Amino acid sequence: MEFNKVFLLFFCIFFCFSAFQAESRLLSNFFQEPQEPHFRVLSQISLPPSPAPEAHSPSPADFAAIFNVLSYGAVGDGVADDTQAFKMAWDDACHTDSGILLVPSRYSFMIQSTIFTGPCKSGLVFQIEGTIMPPDGPDSWPKNYSKRQWLVFYRVSGMTMQGGGLIDGRGENWWNLPCKPHKGVNGTTSHGPCDSPVAIRFFMSSNLTVQGLRVRNSPQFHFRFDGCQDVNVYSLYIKSPSLSPNTDGIHIENTSDVRIHNTIIYNGDDCVSIGAGCHNVDIRNITCGPSHGISIGSLGKQNTKACVSNITVTDSLIKHSANGVRIKTWQGGFGSVSKVTFNNIVMDTVRNPIIIDQYYCETKGCQNQTSAVYVSDILYTNIKGTYDVRSPPMRLACSDSVPCTNLTLSDVELFPAQGQNILDPYCWNAYGSLKTLTIPPVFCLLEGYPPDSMPPNDVLVC
Ligand SMILES: *[C@@H]1O[C@H](CO)[C@@H](O)[C@H](O)[C@H]1NC(C)=O
Ligand SMILES: *[C@@H]1O[C@H](CO)[C@@H](O)[C@H](O)[C@H]1NC(C)=O
Ligand SMILES: *[C@@H]1O[C@H](CO)[C@@H](O)[C@H](O)[C@H]1NC(C)=O
Ligand SMILES: *[C@@H]1O[C@H](CO)[C@@H](O)[C@H](O)[C@H]1NC(C)=O
Ligand SMILES: *[C@@H]1O[C@H](CO)[C@@H](O)[C@H](O)[C@H]1NC(C)=O
Ligand SMILES: *[C@@H]1O[C@H](CO)[C@@H](O)[C@H](O)[C@H]1NC(C)=O
Ligand SMILES: *[C@@H]1O[C@H](CO)[C@@H](O)[C@H](O)[C@H]1NC(C)=O
Ligand SMILES: *[C@@H]1O[C@H](CO)[C@@H](O)[C@H](O)[C@H]1NC(C)=O
Repeated sequence: MEFNKVFLLFFCIFFCFSAFQAESRLLSNFFQEPQEPHFRVLSQISLPPSPAPEAHSPSPADFAAIFNVLSYGAVGDGVADDTQAFKMAWDDACHTDSGILLVPSRYSFMIQSTIFTGPCKSGLVFQIEGTIMPPDGPDSWPKNYSKRQWLVFYRVSGMTMQGGGLIDGRGENWWNLPCKPHKGVNGTTSHGPCDSPVAIRFFMSSNLTVQGLRVRNSPQFHFRFDGCQDVNVYSLYIKSPSLSPNTDGIHIENTSDVRIHNTIIYNGDDCVSIGAGCHNVDIRNITCGPSHGISIGSLGKQNTKACVSNITVTDSLIKHSANGVRIKTWQGGFGSVSKVTFNNIVMDTVRNPIIIDQYYCETKGCQNQTSAVYVSDILYTNIKGTYDVRSPPMRLACSDSVPCTNLTLSDVELFPAQGQNILDPYCWNAYGSLKTLTIPPVFCLLEGYPPDSMPPNDVLVC
């Protein structure tokens, strides 16, 4: 125990220091004008293709055509409405093999809520080197445009969105709407319409790559992928205040074959949230927090079906967050969450580092119900660090009617971030096993499988 503490301390000093260095580097860049593009591809292809020697077999880059939004009349002063220019540049880039829509550096483009529709020719690149932003808050949002989404990519396949530029959601006035938590008169929460736009939404699209961008202050989720397949998200830097409501970093739903790697997220809600219908998701090297952690759910709301399987979260750091790795389901609902691995995750002052909550409820007085999304085959391995002592480090609160099964804990070592008091893990109707001793020890996990070993067939319909 003593040895582990010393080890952890050293580990933490090392880790925090590296994280701090990385952070200050990123922060110092964050508010400056974008300088060097992060991706070399642009400078290579913006040169006129040199005359090809006879034997030279042309590479796709030789044919790449650049559609600069400035050539379509965009002003880029942050005030003028540049929507039409973006739409025209999109149409041309979309209909060209390996077309590049270029958002040049040193300009700020204001664009209205827009749907960029495919199908497009393969290899389309949306290259953001400058800044793009929506109108500033709900009062500036034209009445006839959707308030639920800003930039939408629909039925697009084989597209890359990348660059060293900035997507600025200008969310502040949305977060302060009186309908948002405690933003009404005298700190109340008012009723009434509360729609706020998702910054970037990919809908019914496939083979997508989003990389290198900085995205900040979304009015709502920063990214949302729904009905998509083959999604690659790399090296993003997403930042919103910790008190900005509902600003999930990356939300996926009904989406399969997803990789989210090397990404840094600070925000006011989940860093990554995984909704119903997601399979084969690989999340790796994420620095998350302050935030609400990495979440599967919420699932099964209003008795809906939710199927989620084969999710891996690995090699990540979660700090100063309300949750670490979470599975949350509502009472009622059906389907299952299975084959989930949380591996090699460092927790730094996290309130609920490991949590399954099958009693998730946003309002007061949700009734317990006889059905639930079935949670099984969940592996927690090599999860180390510290927890905020306001709640126990492990909370496995499974449904009364449909127990969780085959939860496995291995190399879990969680220490209080303050003081010496060790809090006991909490379990309810949670079946599984310990592969190693854990810190703190877990005595509450039920061994083996529940007596009625499988949930009824009408639960398991995935
Ligand atoms: C909204 O109204 C403006 C001005 O009347 C018009 O230019 C624009 O096309 C409309 N947009 C939509 C999405 O209907
Ligand atoms: C995915 O898109 C890339 C271009 O971004 C293209 O080269 C590749 O062939 C596409 N893959 C599939 C399976 O469509
Ligand atoms: C807000 O609080 C002030 C001071 O307590 C009170 O006078 C006022 O009536 C309250 N307003 C509403 C709408 O409740
Ligand atoms: C899920 O996405 C697929 C396309 O990938 C679509 O056909 C289907 O309607 C979507 N289902 C739901 C419930 O959104
Ligand atoms: C992890 O992500 C960070 C931030 O994006 C990056 O600097 C670092 O190189 C990545 N580490 C690995 C092993 O890829
Ligand atoms: C699980 O997902 C990973 C990608 O994260 C994929 O490589 C693997 O094939 C999937 N396993 C199954 C059984 O589909
Ligand atoms: C629902 O069930 C849980 C676990 O048995 C219990 O702790 C909780 O009080 C119940 N809630 C309601 C509203 O009955
Ligand atoms: C229990 O879960 C582990 C992964 O966490 C998996 O390897 C194993 O096959 C599962 N056991 C059963 C009986 O499904």
